[in-house]
Amino acid sequence: MTNSLYTPSPSTSASLQPINNPPFHTQPHHRSIAMAATGEPQPAKHQEVGHKSLLQSDALYQYILETSVYPREPESMKELREVTAKHPWNLMTTSADEGQFLNLLLKLINAKNTMEIGVYTGYSLLSTALALPEDGKILALDINRENYEIGLPIIEKAGVAHKIDFREGPALPLLDQMVDDVKFHGSFDFIFVDADKDNYLNYHKRLIDLVKIGGVIGYDNTLWNGSLVAPADAPLRKYVRYYRDFVLELNKTLAVDPRVEICQLPVGDGITLCRRIS
Ligand SMILES: C[S@@+](CC[C@H](N)C(=O)[O-])C[C@H]1O[C@@H](n2cnc3c(N)ncnc32)[C@H](O)[C@@H]1O
Repeated sequence: MTNSLYTPSPSTSASLQPINNPPFHTQPHHRSIAMAATGEPQPAKHQEVGHKSLLQSDALYQYILETSVYPREPESMKELREVTAKHPWNLMTTSADEGQFLNLLLKLINAKNTMEIGVYTGYSLLSTALALPEDGKILALDINRENYEIGLPIIEKAGVAHKIDFREGPALPLLDQMVDDVKFHGSFDFIFVDADKDNYLNYHKRLIDLVKIGGVIGYDNTLWNGSLVAPADAPLRKYVRYYRDFVLELNKTLAVDPRVEICQLPVGDGITLCRRIS
């Protein structure tokens, strides 16, 4: 994800609701980091919907988008990005540069059978569906079908809806069912996790059995708006502060997990790729 714009609920993560607070990187603390880095005040930052870049220069991020991403973005993804931009929770969407990254990665690893946890309106889902071969499959899980249906007509028009098996509901119980059935073990080439951060470690425990050896799990938002290294008194939004500890714990765990090779990339809000090796 994108910035998971959820407000934590004391009960279950399935009841987390997206909120419209600006992400951490639009707040004064983050701006002051940008000024310190360049010595100059930056121009208005983070205008792009779905802006997830941790780059200190907004102009440089804009340069990437305008030079390498937007000119090559498939028409359907552009349409979905523009439709999503009008949605009140639009900050949850995967950014265009990350969508491009996922699309290329899936082609590089010849992915065919994939899973996505956290769909929202489907930008990363569409980028995945476009990358897979005609008989490729995506098991797409989200607690909210309504948002998926915003993007669905565009996905259908792009001719890739037949690759998607959307299931509405919390991901964890379904993953448990799959783990109980050996036929799913080692069956996924790629799994993208972009949902409730407080469950990432629970997901990891299960996904490690479901991804094949040599397959890849991508965990999104592992740099959590840069908040992981924010000073204790930084004015963090409540949801950022709440999820920060879960992201820190995830990163610590992945760093020492001998079953995977990892690479944490500062694309979007940070994505950690885990290649299963045992
Ligand atoms: C950041 S958004 C996903 C963004 C999406 N990847 C995209 O490209 O736009 C996170 C999504 O996770 C979903 N979600 C939250 N908790 C969940 C859970 N327990 N199981 C499945 N989905 C969940 C939310 O409904 C939301 O749509």
